Amino acid sequence: MNILSVESSCDETAVAIVQDGRKVLTDCIASQVALHREYGGVVPEIASRKHIEAIYGLADQALAETQLTREDIDAIAVTYAPGLIGAVLVGVNFAKAAALALNKPLIPVHHIRGHIAANYLAYPELEPPFLCLVVSGGHTMIVEIQDYTKMRILGTTLDDAAGECFDKVARVLGMPYPGGAALDRVAKEGDETRYNLPRSKPGANPYDMSFSGLKTAALNLIHHAEQVGEEVDIPGLCASFSAAVSDTLVPRVVRAIEETGLRKIAVAGGVAANSRIRRDILAAAERLGAEVYMPPLSLCGDNGAMIGAQAYYEYLAGNVADMSLNAYATKSILGEKL
Ligand code: KG4
Ligand code: ZN
Repeated sequence: MNILSVESSCDETAVAIVQDGRKVLTDCIASQVALHREYGGVVPEIASRKHIEAIYGLADQALAETQLTREDIDAIAVTYAPGLIGAVLVGVNFAKAAALALNKPLIPVHHIRGHIAANYLAYPELEPPFLCLVVSGGHTMIVEIQDYTKMRILGTTLDDAAGECFDKVARVLGMPYPGGAALDRVAKEGDETRYNLPRSKPGANPYDMSFSGLKTAALNLIHHAEQVGEEVDIPGLCASFSAAVSDTLVPRVVRAIEETGLRKIAVAGGVAANSRIRRDILAAAERLGAEVYMPPLSLCGDNGAMIGAQAYYEYLAGNVADMSLNAYATKSILGEKL
């Protein structure tokens, strides 16, 4: 089954064609990151406008690259939530028009389910059940994937997402948007014991976590140094910060592996590209004898192929939409039958 899948929830416009949820025939992407960099973050109106400009060309490019015709496409999939509402709407309206014109099923996909499904592309043998650490710009959670479309959230951040904190600290340190990857690079040169930053302690739900205290501590440290004229050891701060984020995430993942007895752990989302988190997850999994699934960096960030992968399983589960499909800025990953 060839699914043409569309992603436009933030600052990447993407159209992919994926076969049977596992094989990427093409993954076309137009990044707007350089445009938003000037403003230090995503400007929603600019994002929507750029999605409109890019989306038709990307769909044509996807067909041209695969030498498929419109008739060879069996269904249209699209990210319908969550994201910047104007941006998500562009993808949803394009997908609805394409499904209507081609008379093909329309498959709505939750963006975070897509991130998780990036693992199916990277690891054709991976099947549920497994655990997934989801760490993106807007979401941080530990999820039990019971089946392709059936999930249980073990814990989430109670405040900021890990990616938001990486970006905020990087921005204050003068790194260009989105700063997570740049901070990660600089951290490699630093001493992670240089600054003592807080790790959130387990609360009522031991899987839940918090990052706002860590973010505030790092920002206060930078501002205080500025005020008293001290120089911040930037690599040291980046390394200490990355270690604190990882020390918040990884022990909870370890607990999840131990308590559920699931011996398969996947990572998903843009922050899953972080070298410190990847290293710590690998080490923890080796200790516990668990299998690790880490998509290549190209599949960690937003892309269309991950939406096409999840869409196949949503389709098999009967989760198709009609022309009343709407876009949503927020929606639980648990979703509901449409
Ligand atoms: O999943 P994603 O592409 O978009 C959302 O769905 O939010 O994630 C983007 C986030 C940004 O916050 C970006 O700074 C972060 O992923 N990121 C990283 C790294 N690469 C990307 N954060 C830390 N270390 C990295 N290497
Ligand atoms: Zn994303």
